[in-house]
Amino acid sequence: MTGIMLGSKITGWGAALPGTVITNEDFEKRLDTSDAWITERTGIKERRVGGTTASLSIEAAQKAIAAAGLTPADIGMLVLSTTTPDQTVPATSATVQAELGLTCGAFDVNAACAGFVYALVVGHSMILSGVEHVLVIGADTLSRITDMEDRSTAVLFADGAGAVVLSRTEENNFLSWDLGVDGTLVPILYCDHGGYLRMEGREVFKRAVLAMVSSAQAALERAGITTDDVALVVPHQANIRIIEAANNRLGIPMERTAIVLDKTGNTSSGSIPLALAAAADMGRIHPGDYVLFCGFGAGMTWASAVVRWGA
Ligand code: COA
Repeated sequence: MTGIMLGSKITGWGAALPGTVITNEDFEKRLDTSDAWITERTGIKERRVGGTTASLSIEAAQKAIAAAGLTPADIGMLVLSTTTPDQTVPATSATVQAELGLTCGAFDVNAACAGFVYALVVGHSMILSGVEHVLVIGADTLSRITDMEDRSTAVLFADGAGAVVLSRTEENNFLSWDLGVDGTLVPILYCDHGGYLRMEGREVFKRAVLAMVSSAQAALERAGITTDDVALVVPHQANIRIIEAANNRLGIPMERTAIVLDKTGNTSSGSIPLALAAAADMGRIHPGDYVLFCGFGAGMTWASAVVRWGA
């Protein structure tokens, strides 16, 4: 490197899912629900539960660091997005930092299900501030704050993590971002200390589509590209119908969309990096491709970013 800091690109990625699978049929046996209802309304067929936010983070991060061809000593900052930290104090990133053997600074970011893209933007900003490699993790264990007797939420939320390494480059591959929140919408999706997630499903659905569309459009405009240029959109994996509705309005076909929610459910911060890792592992993203990340969540937060996939 010449020391000229022009931008960042994603150089490694990794995913982690807990071992316990809960299928729609499992829910059929104990709740007043059906595989047909869940599949039709959400697209989810099964989800994973278990582990801690730290343990899932560590597994995903180890894969991402190795994929980037780096060692823990190379990481200059850890940004961990989670809405389900293992303890109130300290930040989960402290545990993850120690277990990974990192020697750098570490902190948590909480912007609910939009958190991973917020963390990615923070990571990019750290690169512009002089850090060479930033580890960005999105991890959540929503099963711990979900009432498993409430059919309207139990079938949706689950656990998982994904991680990426952002590295300094002389050609900027991080093209644009759009971050926002409408805090007047706190009451439609929240969880109090010691409580469970509470949600006005229909309202969240409607607002999520609007937020995704306007945020994606803002990020695309700032990147100077159109939806036709997007090789892959990696949306928050909450509900297939939300993604279809947003894609429809944006004019992005589902074939150009990364989907893992049928196997993962909604893993909040874990969802976008899980979908990214699956698409990258399948060879669906090629050097030079424009990738659009688009998240939304409680708050109500939204976050989009456009990156050019590195070589
Ligand atoms: N199985 C069967 N019936 C269920 C059910 C389930 N798992 N969950 C809810 N229902 C019932 C409701 O009780 C309601 O019954 P009622 O008409 O007798 O009162 C009926 O289905 C319709 O409920 P409604 O909430 O209007 O359904 P919907 O079509 O809006 O679908 C969601 C519900 C939750 C799937 C949908 O609103 C949604 O996906 N919202 C967004 C949620 C989300 O993604 N949150 C996270 C954002 S990060």
